[in-house]
Amino acid sequence: MDLTTYLSGDAWRLWAALSITFAYTLFCYVLFHRARNAGQITVMQQGTGKPVLVVYASQTGQAESIARHTASELSGNGTPVHLSRIDQPWLEDAASASRVFFIVSTAGDGSSPDHALGFVHKQLDKPCAGLQGVRFGLLALGDRNYPDFCAFGRRLDQWLQACGAQPEFSRIEVDKLEGQALAAWNGHLQGFGTKIQAGAPAATEPDDYAEWRLLSRCCLNAGSPGSSMCKVVLQPVSGGLPQWHAGDLADVLIPGGDGKPRSYSISNLPDDNRIELIVRSVVREDGTSGQTSGWLNQHAQPGDALKLRVRSNPGFNLGADLSKPLILIGAGTGIAGLRGHLQARAKAFSASAQPAPEHNTWLLFGERSGRHDRPCHAEIDKWQHTRLLTRLDLSFSRDDPRTPYVQHHLQEHAKELQEWVENGANILVCGCAKTMARSVDQSLRNILGDASVDDLLMSGRMRRDIF
Ligand SMILES: Cc1cc2nc3c(=O)[nH]c(=O)nc-3n(C[C@H](O)[C@H](O)[C@H](O)COP(=O)(O)OP(=O)(O)OC[C@H]3O[C@@H](n4cnc5c(N)ncnc54)[C@H](O)[C@@H]3O)c2cc1C
Ligand SMILES: Cc1cc2nc3c(=O)[nH]c(=O)nc-3n(C[C@H](O)[C@H](O)[C@H](O)COP(=O)(O)O)c2cc1C
Repeated sequence: MDLTTYLSGDAWRLWAALSITFAYTLFCYVLFHRARNAGQITVMQQGTGKPVLVVYASQTGQAESIARHTASELSGNGTPVHLSRIDQPWLEDAASASRVFFIVSTAGDGSSPDHALGFVHKQLDKPCAGLQGVRFGLLALGDRNYPDFCAFGRRLDQWLQACGAQPEFSRIEVDKLEGQALAAWNGHLQGFGTKIQAGAPAATEPDDYAEWRLLSRCCLNAGSPGSSMCKVVLQPVSGGLPQWHAGDLADVLIPGGDGKPRSYSISNLPDDNRIELIVRSVVREDGTSGQTSGWLNQHAQPGDALKLRVRSNPGFNLGADLSKPLILIGAGTGIAGLRGHLQARAKAFSASAQPAPEHNTWLLFGERSGRHDRPCHAEIDKWQHTRLLTRLDLSFSRDDPRTPYVQHHLQEHAKELQEWVENGANILVCGCAKTMARSVDQSLRNILGDASVDDLLMSGRMRRDIF
């Protein structure tokens, strides 16, 4: 006897309806979890009751680090805590959260961090009904040296309030991670049952600076018309080397300095058992030397100690995915961040025992003089020779009036650039934010169109380490 004859007509209909409802619920559940996993909303702490939601936007990882710290401290009292990047689907969760804490930095020219562009385009220009009555706190990171101080945090705050969200306390703005403002943030969080002590030194993460020493230093641009650029080699005084990925940063505190760390792009991989930085001597407007670059490039002697921590820089990590072509664009000390990625790629190709395919790795690099400013030229020549670099375009502003800067080479090879991007190329940009990165952005927009460049930035196919 088959099932249809076994069940009476009504029972059969009921059974079929229940089965369809069950299958549909299962389907929705799977879709929801897929979306959640794809969006990577992290459940920091499970629990009953309304969750606290922590949302961040971060270019070089500082806001992310404070957000993770905040979320883990909030988890301490058993409240469910969820952590989300601002471009992930947190809006759905906001209405059911007891509080939403935002920690966001401002990036180039007062804009949002790159990964937040999609959120800015989709949300910030129109009100959002789902935020009515949501209670929130906002920490805005910035730097008063930039004309649009904390512009993205301010814009987000305005939008949240225009959507009917209610601030728990006034927006806290932090200038260069200054301690008092961060301590004020901690003070507000105390009201939500965290382990954080009000007024505690508002570290972005546990104090993980260690003592390092200068091993050696060499000048990379003797005779250059620009200020000196040195390779600075550092080793930990004791203990093992921390791990890092291509694209990560070293925060450096020098003895007798102002106590504020300066960040440098790590230019090598941990396999070398040391950190190599490429540092330009900064000359301030009054003619004096920059504090940290001056110490690293001139005053420090081999053996001298400093404090250093390695900081992950998710906005400039790419992994060594050999299946995708890679375009690396930089100028000056921008070679530092690019070199780490090139080393990682060389290592991955050598491990795979596969030769690099055609049209695979393209470096566009700019400096002043071809005679004096060729940092890392021996390695670059080797990579060209071994075909890791399948294409190399060097621009020397003092030598070549036709294509003086990297953006001119981009324009000149616009068609190839389009083809590489159509073939799935990732793009890395490293170096000066005000000059090189701005012009490169403009050229890429001219060649590929605004929508395509925004897509590359939002999807993480284009990543930047600019300063
Ligand atoms: C994410 C990130 C990565 C970085 N990577 C590198 C790197 O790989 N190599 C490197 O050399 N630097 C890098 N920097 C810059 C570095 O952190 C310092 O800002 C730089 O070395 C100046 O610090 P200082 O202590 O020597 O100068 P300070 O004593 O802080 O004086 C700097 C003064 O000079 C001006 N100034 C600051 N920076 C510059 C500049 N670049 N050119 C001209 N004037 C300036 C400012 O007005 C400021 O008042 C990076 C910065 C960031 C944020
Ligand atoms: C290239 C660059 C551009 C920046 N532009 C601004 C700006 O326009 N306004 C501002 O207040 N801060 C600006 N800052 C400072 C950052 O917001 C600040 O360093 C912050 O702590 C970085 O946090 P993050 O690591 O989470 O991105 C800029 C920093 C960099 C490196």
